[in-house]
Amino acid sequence: MSRGPERLRGDSVRFAEVEPFLHTRWVGKNFFHWECLDSTNTQAKFLVQTTGCHGDVVVCEQQTQGRGRRGRSWLSMPEGGGLFFSVLLRPELPPHCAPELTLVTAVALAKAIRGLGIEVWIKWPNDIQVGGKKLVGILTELIADGKKTQGVVVGIGMNLNGREEDFPEELRGRATSLAVVSGKPHSKAFVLAMLLQHLEHWFDLYMREGFIPIAAEWTVLSSTLGRRVRVDLGNEVKEGEALHIHSSGALVLRGDDGELFSVLAGDVEHLRPA
Ligand code: BTN
Repeated sequence: MSRGPERLRGDSVRFAEVEPFLHTRWVGKNFFHWECLDSTNTQAKFLVQTTGCHGDVVVCEQQTQGRGRRGRSWLSMPEGGGLFFSVLLRPELPPHCAPELTLVTAVALAKAIRGLGIEVWIKWPNDIQVGGKKLVGILTELIADGKKTQGVVVGIGMNLNGREEDFPEELRGRATSLAVVSGKPHSKAFVLAMLLQHLEHWFDLYMREGFIPIAAEWTVLSSTLGRRVRVDLGNEVKEGEALHIHSSGALVLRGDDGELFSVLAGDVEHLRPA
């Protein structure tokens, strides 16, 4: 029986281990490392309301109450199986631009992981997948004061060195890890540094040139566009073809009734290839 990929012993995301690989100007200049946290997003949101700066990184080895989109929980694999971190942003942007940051993040992560030799795709809006299985999830949270953005927390959970059998039964067909798809374990510190570097590059590009270059890259990396999909809007489920991404970050679809509609927040299920 195959034991699956070995884990790297002693690998951690303490700053001393990440720093040798980290060549950023502003992401991770303040680096808050914890052995165990309930949620890196909750901790980063606390920083937004107190002393936190643009580019602060909150990371932990173990996460006990990881949060996912739409009130779901995020399974945080123990013992080096996962990477859990949040980046605090204080962009000069109105609150309605926050969903775009999810797509900027997805592009940055997909590019970073492709740089590690794994062909990943983005499922709208925030899943990074390999072969239709989830590798990374992104939870973007806005902290605003009326029309003023106080901060945005971008939280990232990546299945890193977990083996197939480490996933609970109900996730096995739907989730995978970097180690499973590449057949070898990866250094948490190195992968975190690569992700942070790409995040800085793509955040900088977005702040300099706006959403158009991001949407172009997102379109190339998307596994959703051109597909027939089912969209869960919370109060309604619709089916149609995913056409393109709107400048607001919304997904534009043609419903089965021929009407165009767009979705800014919801769950998408791929029904069949284009
Ligand atoms: C999703 O796919 O629903 C998003 C999952 C995001 C999980 C990460 S793990 C690090 C950060 N802290 C959290 O509580 N959630 C995000």
